[in-house]
Amino acid sequence: MSRIAYVNGQYVPHSEGAVHIEDRGYQFADGVYEVFAIHHGKLIGVQGHMDRLGHSLSELRIDWPMKPGPFMVVVNEVVRRNHVKNGLVYIQVTRGVARRDHPFPADCVSSMVVTAKKMKPLDKVALSKGIGVITIPDIRWKRKDIKSVSLLPNCLGKQQAREAGAFEAWMIDDQGMVTEGTSTNAWIVTKDGELVTRDISSAILNGITRLAVLEAAKEAGVSFSERPFSEQEALEAKEAFITSSTSHVKAVTSINDNPVGNGHVGELTARLLDLYVDFIEAKGGPQHTDKWN
Ligand SMILES: Cc1ncc(COP(=O)(O)O)c(C=O)c1O
Repeated sequence: MSRIAYVNGQYVPHSEGAVHIEDRGYQFADGVYEVFAIHHGKLIGVQGHMDRLGHSLSELRIDWPMKPGPFMVVVNEVVRRNHVKNGLVYIQVTRGVARRDHPFPADCVSSMVVTAKKMKPLDKVALSKGIGVITIPDIRWKRKDIKSVSLLPNCLGKQQAREAGAFEAWMIDDQGMVTEGTSTNAWIVTKDGELVTRDISSAILNGITRLAVLEAAKEAGVSFSERPFSEQEALEAKEAFITSSTSHVKAVTSINDNPVGNGHVGELTARLLDLYVDFIEAKGGPQHTDKWN
């Protein structure tokens, strides 16, 4: 069955979807994006993704391409036309097409592209296998709270991880603290048993999955700290995991080829995966989605 994309007002065969050569997303990475997970036919974290998209757009002074109501009609229609029950929907909004020049053009109309992709359903057994991460310097810009399409450092980091036989790269800031993964948030359980993920600021993207796991943990009475943690703390951690809309809660069992804890999936990590799945199935996503940096 052929895939369908939405491109600037039209539903077109995915293979024919195209934007103009002077779209500022293409020329300058002057655009933002969102990725919603689709779990058993339901979009996850809709409010969170819409609020975060609003944050990214307003920080860059890009207009919404349409009001949130019609926007969600388009998103749902792309999911429906592609028959996606489990997978993701990708939305990109750029400042639009204009003669190439750095300042914001007057009268630019935002471009909007929506695509959807089928993926295997969330599989707790596969997620519990554990992955390896490497650590690399964080060479990105200073506004990581904006979900910008400018992902070159993230692509370089992910490629470096794959070439090292790892799944993800954790980026380290100039103070020796872990910021996040190239497309995931980073979590550890310290050697003293403290569940930690970095606090929100312009140093990380506040993940919708991160927020859902924090809310699920809170409801279950699992205590946690939102604070920066060092590369050294990560190397000495008892447990580690990553979160994202497509990785869900994935155990990290090695960092730079050294085992995390006993090298097996941690007890708290496994519990948080269960809590997360129950939480999104019951609530659809995080309920508190008003703070982004
Ligand atoms: C840099 C970065 N951090 C964290 C995340 C996780 O965000 P979410 O849970 O909303 O998918 C992503 C997802 O794309 C990301 O690119």
